[in-house]
Amino acid sequence: MSKIDSSNRAGSRLPAGSCPGRRAFLGGALGTAAAFGATRRARGASRTEITFASAKFFGKETVAQVVEAYNASQGRVHVTYVELPPPSESTEVHQLLVQQLARQTGSPDVFTQDVIWIAEFAGAGWALPLDQELGADVRKQYFPGVVQACTWGGKLTALPWFIDSGMLYYRTDLLGGAAVPETWDELVSIAQSVEKSGRARFGFLWQGKQAEVLVCDLVEFIASNGGAILAPDGKTVLIDDEKSVQAVQFMRDTITRYKISPQDVLSWDEEPSRRPFTGGQAAFLRNWSYVYTIAQDPKASSVVGKVGVAPLPHFPGGRSAACLGGYQYGVNASTKNRDAAIDFVSWMSSPATQLHFATELGLAPTRPDVFDEPRLAESQPFMQKLKPVFLGATPRPVTPKYAQVTLVLQSSVSRALADGNVKQALAGAKDRISAIVAT
Ligand code: GLC
Repeated sequence: MSKIDSSNRAGSRLPAGSCPGRRAFLGGALGTAAAFGATRRARGASRTEITFASAKFFGKETVAQVVEAYNASQGRVHVTYVELPPPSESTEVHQLLVQQLARQTGSPDVFTQDVIWIAEFAGAGWALPLDQELGADVRKQYFPGVVQACTWGGKLTALPWFIDSGMLYYRTDLLGGAAVPETWDELVSIAQSVEKSGRARFGFLWQGKQAEVLVCDLVEFIASNGGAILAPDGKTVLIDDEKSVQAVQFMRDTITRYKISPQDVLSWDEEPSRRPFTGGQAAFLRNWSYVYTIAQDPKASSVVGKVGVAPLPHFPGGRSAACLGGYQYGVNASTKNRDAAIDFVSWMSSPATQLHFATELGLAPTRPDVFDEPRLAESQPFMQKLKPVFLGATPRPVTPKYAQVTLVLQSSVSRALADGNVKQALAGAKDRISAIVAT
C-alpha cells in the first residue's frame, strides 16, 4: 500500500516556488483510462471506498479529474464522484443533497455545500463538526471571513474550498476612451453609447432568471445603494426600504427604460448571460470569477485579450458591493468512513489543490498564501487585483431558514421585474420573510 502524500494536506503549506505545474499536479493520474483502471484493480481491495457529491464545476478541467488525481496520489482511499447539476441550479442541487443527507445513511460521505446552506446543514446535524481534526493551526491558514462562514453554533462544520464574488466584466476595446464605470449612471451612459454606435448588440448583461443567482444580483444592487435584505439582528427585514425599492427599480429600468439589457436577462442565469459576452456581443457583464478563464480561452471566446474585470458599480452615495458566493466541503455526520473522508477533504482543501482549482477552473483560493502565489497572478491576474472585492463580499442572509427565504425573494423580485409593481412586490416579500425568520 503506498503512503498518502503528506505534503498535500489541509494543514500543509505551499513552500515558495514549489507550486506544482498542471502536469506535475496530475502526476500521471490522468494517464490513459486503461492504466488508471489497472491501478484501481491492483489497489482496490485494500482501499476504503467513499462517495463524494458535488455540483458540477468546469474550466480547463473538471472536478472529476481532480478527484481522480487524489485517487492516484495514494493507496488507502478510493473516492467515487457523484456529479450533481451545476451551481446555477442551486435549488435543485440543494434539494438532492437534503434528500440524501436527511436519510442519514452515511451516503454521500463527503459533499460540497454552497455557502448559503452551511447554517441549515449544521443546524440539522447533517454536517460533521471538524474542529477536532482541524484545529486552530489549520483554521488560521484560511481567510478569517471564510472560516467564519464555515462556522455555525461555534463549530467548524465546513472546510473552505473556494470563495466567489460578483464582478464587472468589461470590453477594454469598447470603452472608447471612457474610464471603467464606477457608478451605475456611468455604466448606463457608456452602454447606451456602445449600443448606439453598433459596436456591440448589448450594453449590460446580468442574471434575472427566477433562480438563486437573481438573489445574488439583488444583494449587489441593494448593497451598492447602501441597503440590505436583512438587518444585522437577523430578524428585521429591510427588503421594502426605499433603498431596496430604488435598486430593484433600477434592475427593471436597465431593460425597459435605459434599454441597455435585453428582456432575455429575465430568463438568463450565469451561462446564457456569459455566452453573448464571450461571443463579442456585449460591452458589460456581471458574473462570477469562472468567466475569466473562459474569456481568455481562444477555443471558447472571441474576446481574448479584450476583457477587463473591475468591482461592480454603485449608486450615488453608495459603495461597490459583491455578493459572497462559493462552495465549501462538508463531511456527512452519518459517514461510516470518517478518517477517509477527512483525509480526502484535507487533500481537496490543501494549498496545491486550491492552486490547481484556481488556475484550471477559475475558482478563487480561500488561503491567503495561495492567493498571493505568483503562479496564480500569472494565470488569473484579476484575482489579485480584486482581492479586496472577494474579501469584502456581502453575504446573503445567514440563517438556517435560507432555503425558504430565497424562494420568497426569487418569486417576488421576478414578479416586480416583470410587471413593474416593485413596491407592492417587495412589501409582500417583507411580510413573508418576516414570518419565516421570526420562528
Ligand atoms: C455561484 C456561487 C454560489 C451561488 C450560485 C448561484 O456558484 O458561488 O454561491 O449560490 O453561483 O447561481
